[in-house]
Amino acid sequence: MARWKRWFRAPGLSYLGIISVEDPTMTAISTAAPTDATSAHTEGLGDENSIWFKLSALQRGNEHNPMSTLMQLAERYGGVIPVNMGNQRVVFVTEPDHFKRVLVTKVDDYIKYFDGLKPIFGKSMITNDGALWQKIRMPQQPAFHPDMFAEYIPYFLTAIRAKMELWAGLAKSGESFEMVEQTWTLAADMICKALFDRDMPFNPHVVFKCVKTYTDVMNHKAVRLKMVHGGEFELTEDDTAKAMETWAAVPPDVMAANPNEGRERTLLTMIESVVADPSVPEFDTQQAIDEIKQYLWAGTETTALTLAWALYEASKDPEVADRIRREGEQVYGDRDPTAADYGALAYTRAVIQETMRIYPPIWGLIRVATKADEIGGKEIRPGDRVVLFAYGTHHSPKYWDDPETFKPERFMGDAAKRRKPYTYIPLGGGKRSCIGGAMSQVENTLAISILLRRFRPEYVGQEPPGINATVTLTPKGGLAFKVHELG
Ligand code: HEM
Repeated sequence: MARWKRWFRAPGLSYLGIISVEDPTMTAISTAAPTDATSAHTEGLGDENSIWFKLSALQRGNEHNPMSTLMQLAERYGGVIPVNMGNQRVVFVTEPDHFKRVLVTKVDDYIKYFDGLKPIFGKSMITNDGALWQKIRMPQQPAFHPDMFAEYIPYFLTAIRAKMELWAGLAKSGESFEMVEQTWTLAADMICKALFDRDMPFNPHVVFKCVKTYTDVMNHKAVRLKMVHGGEFELTEDDTAKAMETWAAVPPDVMAANPNEGRERTLLTMIESVVADPSVPEFDTQQAIDEIKQYLWAGTETTALTLAWALYEASKDPEVADRIRREGEQVYGDRDPTAADYGALAYTRAVIQETMRIYPPIWGLIRVATKADEIGGKEIRPGDRVVLFAYGTHHSPKYWDDPETFKPERFMGDAAKRRKPYTYIPLGGGKRSCIGGAMSQVENTLAISILLRRFRPEYVGQEPPGINATVTLTPKGGLAFKVHELG
């Protein structure tokens, strides 16, 4: 049965509690006032009105897939849905034309939203807007130019080979493991080696758990954030405090670690030279630290989730896995794949793209409206949190034929050209789109191709896996796997 149908059989919308949809023609879904319980939960957040926690209220609707609640809202109320969540007006937009308005046409009137996530990102590029954002992004952009990928591929391969050694041990012992942790540590290793010219100077399994401690919004209530910069924040709960301490130590460790080869042109050397440039005083040492933090979260979590979900899909459908293997065999055979080979791995690349359609790691892009506007006939007020519901559009039957079925072929040949713009936004859009998106496709395409040629990963978790919609779309409790060596 299609995944969507299974998830869509959710109860009605009445469980939404404190949430009410603004609709003058209809009775609100629920008009209950914000409760003390809610403020107790949000109390102590970096921003006590953090949207991440509030959105988690929607998870009450369907324990397997909280996205279905939002899909139901979209279906019932149309493309623009103003929702009052406690004391915050949140506007869900679900139509591609509206995405374009927010991300491109009126981009300067919708600024980034990152409150409550400062310990993860600090003041890095991803949290900034306007001229300062441009000053920070510009000097780093060359590290992500496609011309650099050929240089990065040998480092990606080294990281993939190390992962294969580990998997060979897991295959021998027969033990099960959590796939997102495996792919997270792989993605972190690839970034450190290719972009920083370093081996990971930290235990990635420990750091992975730290990041999870924080990005699971249910932990936010434990955080008492007093001061973000300067590394001083007071935390009341031990686990979270420890997690943040470990996380804060990572960038200085990366900077202090010995370079592997002393390469001259890496992302890290680019960052170091801006710090040394007196004409860009804003880009100070703290900025460099926060940029590294950003890459080790934004560049690993998303890439890792995509690869883990892709392996899940490939383990469920042996034909997908076999086609990936056959393509690898034909394109690069027994030698190491090159940048040109990556270009020829059309099906494998489409598997990664289709995975990001069904499981967009960033399921909703969040902005704050700075000016009054109107979208789809609905009023937008300054201060509104505007959620671009990428998952909804990716799963809409209006734009995708049989949207709940995994079909990589959608991304092959001319199909992409026929697609309506902004119906597929896993990497965002406009000038704030993902800086590392193209690179992550190279990482994941090569990783799945190489890993599947030696192994048969077997998903051993619950079917279908539940989804947690926190900052990212993550499998609830992870994805349990065993792995087998192919004979
Ligand atoms: C599958 C992998 C990835 C996905 C799905 C993804 C997704 C996204 C999305 C949706 C945005 C825009 C968010 C918004 O507009 O609110 C974004 C921004 C960003 N991503 Fe990625 N990303 C991925 C991989 C990477 C990698 C590999 C890196 C770097 C190593 C990276 C670094 C960044 C940075 C720095 C930004 C902020 C850009 C800016 O604000 O100008 N991402 N990413």
